[in-house]
Amino acid sequence: MGFKKNNPVAAKMRSLLSYTNPYSSIAEQYRSTRTNLYFLTKKGGRKILLVTSPRKGAGKTTTLVNLAISMVKGNEKVLIIDANFRNPSIHTILKLQNRRGLIDVIKGIQTFENAVHQTYIEGLDVLTSGDTRTSALEELGTTAMTELLEILSNKYDAILIDAPSVLEAAEARFLASKSDGVILITNKFVTKIEEIVKTQKALEVAKANIIGVVLNEKNNSWLEEYFF
Ligand SMILES: Nc1ncnc2c1ncn2[C@@H]1O[C@H](COP(=O)(O)OP(=O)(O)OP(=O)(O)O)[C@@H](O)[C@H]1O
Ligand SMILES: [Mg+2]
Repeated sequence: MGFKKNNPVAAKMRSLLSYTNPYSSIAEQYRSTRTNLYFLTKKGGRKILLVTSPRKGAGKTTTLVNLAISMVKGNEKVLIIDANFRNPSIHTILKLQNRRGLIDVIKGIQTFENAVHQTYIEGLDVLTSGDTRTSALEELGTTAMTELLEILSNKYDAILIDAPSVLEAAEARFLASKSDGVILITNKFVTKIEEIVKTQKALEVAKANIIGVVLNEKNNSWLEEYFF
């Protein structure tokens, strides 16, 4: 992976194991997931991947960012979009400004080119949420959002969307319906089987396509994945 020169920020990325500890078993797990995704994106033509979970706090953002890093290491051009307006945190984990972002692009206040960050990780672009404190949730369901995703899918090999959780946020289902595939992050200690079943049903109703389930385990840093 090419980290660009003079990136004081990169040294602070301790939570990003795929960068800080590329030979760890967890980084290997992310690589394995990346390889499965490669076949789904490159060969299967699936570009827009939504990362969500039954309930909040399962490890969506952590998994998504590590996956994105594994993907750009494989020479893909990847865009992360932070569409979790309930708890936007991509900018925190990647130490980026969040003065403008997705919300401004959907509203037509900023162009995508003005709002996107080309990060210190080569091949990785990030569209942060922008200021979502005012009523922004409905904006995710607009035609402008759908059109933006269509345009962006021509510019990148893969787009990873950080979404809120399915059982707590209606907009997650809408976003899932606009994506080519959904990656469901579950947590070994927190997620209940009934919640996974409910989530699966909710996504089915939304005609979303679950392409994989990740079993994340906090603390132990173990990750299992099941790709369909
Ligand atoms: N595999 C892991 N090993 C260690 N810590 C983890 C792991 N996955 C997540 N965490 C930690 O757990 C917390 C919640 O994770 P994260 O923010 O990724 O969850 P989330 O699903 O994105 O939450 P939200 O629904 O609020 O957006 C964070 O402090 C994160 O660092
Ligand atoms: Mg999150």
